[in-house]
Amino acid sequence: MRPLMRAPDVSELRRNAEFVMAAAQPPHQPCTGQGQDPSASGVTILPLAVRGLGFNVGGLRILSDVTLTLLPGAPTVILGPNGAGKSLLLRLLHGLVEPTAGEVSWAGREGDAARRQAMVFQRPVLLRRSVLANVLYPLRLAGAADREARAVAALDLVGLTALADRPARRLSGGEQQRLALARAAATNPDVLFLDEPCASLDPAATRAVEGIVATLAARGTKIVMTTHDLGQARRLAGEVVFLHGGRLLEHTPAAQFFGAPASAEAASFLRGELLAA
Ligand SMILES: Nc1ncnc2c1ncn2[C@@H]1O[C@H](COP(=O)(O)OP(=O)(O)O)[C@@H](O)[C@H]1O
Ligand SMILES: [Mg+2]
Repeated sequence: MRPLMRAPDVSELRRNAEFVMAAAQPPHQPCTGQGQDPSASGVTILPLAVRGLGFNVGGLRILSDVTLTLLPGAPTVILGPNGAGKSLLLRLLHGLVEPTAGEVSWAGREGDAARRQAMVFQRPVLLRRSVLANVLYPLRLAGAADREARAVAALDLVGLTALADRPARRLSGGEQQRLALARAAATNPDVLFLDEPCASLDPAATRAVEGIVATLAARGTKIVMTTHDLGQARRLAGEVVFLHGGRLLEHTPAAQFFGAPASAEAASFLRGELLAA
């Protein structure tokens, strides 16, 4: 296990811009030969070990003493009321924000962690280019082989093949989010972080995104996502991480969380009584 220390990307925090994050990834420097699929080595950057993670701003403790281990397998869904620290935790795990306490460490070879994970935000920021060009962009940054074929396959996965030549910014909200997923999936990450990916989508678009997420999970991508939609959490989660007031109160299999939550806060949250941390 080694800590992944990436300098905080201020512009990313300001703009919530997913592609800025992609641009911040170091160029692909494979140990096994230029252009190979990073996952082809059979090594994974999981488990992810988080110890004593904390984040303070101006004396205010926003996240406190989060310790957990994430293993390969079914999606991990991070739940909790507004302001609980869900988005912040995802950003800390992904290395976009540096913790003020504790550490995040990945398994695998040196240098793999940063390029074998991806993140999709609530509102995707797309390049002012075609749909296909948006998917090709991170592949080019990664120096991946077979870029065109991989991009075409990723668009097929999300059902956007027919729109490949359209300007990306003309797509509907749901299509844009599917494109963001294609862009992330094209690099075949071990871990994909999703922060409220359906928060601004209608039910049909939400179902489409859920289908893609389930497909990626079935293909072996570890999904770590936040959502405020309990129905979605029930449909997708293998396990639940429950945050409240910047603290981790539960980390349990989904059936246990929804059936018999251990904390009073989670029980109250599930009854719809706890809306803000
Ligand atoms: N970089 C930051 N600087 C200052 N405050 C922050 C920062 N990131 C998050 N916060 C605050 O921390 C709390 C948790 O935020 P967030 O992770 O977005 O919650 P959630 O996603 O669970 O709704 C909020 O009160 C938010 O305003
Ligand atoms: Mg959030």
